[in-house]
Amino acid sequence: MESQNGEHDASNLLKAQSHIWNHIFNFINSMSLKCVVDLGIPDIIHNYGKPMSLSKLIPLLPIHPSKTFFIYRLMRIMTHSGFFSQHNISENELETEYVLTDTSLLLLKDNPMNMRSFVHLVFDPVLTKPWHQLSSWLTNDDPTAFETTHGMLFWDYAERESKINNLFNDAMASDARLVSSVVIEKCKEVFNGLESLVDVGGGTGTMAKALAKSFPQLECTVFDLPHVVVGLQGTDNLKYVGGDMFKEIPPADAILLKWILHDWNDDECVKILKKCKESLLKKGNEGKVIIIDMVLDTKKGDINESGKTQLFFDMLMTVLVKGKERNDKEWIKLISLAGFSDYKIIPILGLRSLIEVYP
Ligand SMILES: C[S@@+](CC[C@H](N)C(=O)[O-])C[C@H]1O[C@@H](n2cnc3c(N)ncnc32)[C@H](O)[C@@H]1O
Repeated sequence: MESQNGEHDASNLLKAQSHIWNHIFNFINSMSLKCVVDLGIPDIIHNYGKPMSLSKLIPLLPIHPSKTFFIYRLMRIMTHSGFFSQHNISENELETEYVLTDTSLLLLKDNPMNMRSFVHLVFDPVLTKPWHQLSSWLTNDDPTAFETTHGMLFWDYAERESKINNLFNDAMASDARLVSSVVIEKCKEVFNGLESLVDVGGGTGTMAKALAKSFPQLECTVFDLPHVVVGLQGTDNLKYVGGDMFKEIPPADAILLKWILHDWNDDECVKILKKCKESLLKKGNEGKVIIIDMVLDTKKGDINESGKTQLFFDMLMTVLVKGKERNDKEWIKLISLAGFSDYKIIPILGLRSLIEVYP
């Protein structure tokens, strides 16, 4: 009996050690991803046009000859993470061939939906440093760990540092290209019949441009902070307006809030939603607010990779800005506190949902 317990304890102990190592070293997945993007490996394999062996790939990489041994190991860990798959597996590791997966297609320079600027943004030291301050932030009264680290809120930092502003706006724009294509394909009815729409916090206008093109009857306004929209040129049915959504939102039949409310705390979200309602009422039509954000499924015990990714976003929103990700109950509470009467959650965007909210 005793020895059985002893064996059980030892195996649990070793499992626990391995689990902690796995979590300590999780950042290696992230850093390997950054390295693969920095080296342009997905583009090189893509341009090759067929499965590519390491013996063909390595000479094309911008690396020192003494470092070629490392590429096999980098590709091995990235293959295990689903970024590449192997063809014609050979005894000679240099002759095993690699192809892209759906995941690495989203890292190609030529793909308008690519997530490269998201990679560069999240790994920029300006954004990674606040994670080291998480526990200090818990002991002070700063609104975010970003402020504990940099002495100002993220949006003020972006206004002053054009590198971060550009990376952030580019990352948002590529996401908007992906989301707009899915929304236009799968949810046309959400926009049919609308005459005007304001994309609040619409960044540099990628989402609104796609909507304006697909729905020519729709007058679109991109509304964002002045430093984001300065100098941007509109088209026939699209214009840019600089301003502050906490003060006043231009009147419209519909207001789009894509990836806005998760940036803010509950009180701020209620203020934004009330401003949206004022804007809809000024127009006099029934109107609606269209929210694109995550709805956490916290009821499930064991969560899958998507659920874990949602929880990563929740932590990110707290560290960088004053926000959080919300479950359906939390959304319903915000919607009713802001004085709206009804809503519909449409879960068609992977980790995110489209939520229609009616006055
Ligand atoms: C997470 S980004 C989302 C951008 C865009 N909606 C998208 O999903 O691609 C949040 C946006 O809110 C804008 N923003 C922040 N504070 C704002 C304010 N007070 N008034 C208007 N826009 C604001 C930011 O400049 C940024 O473009």
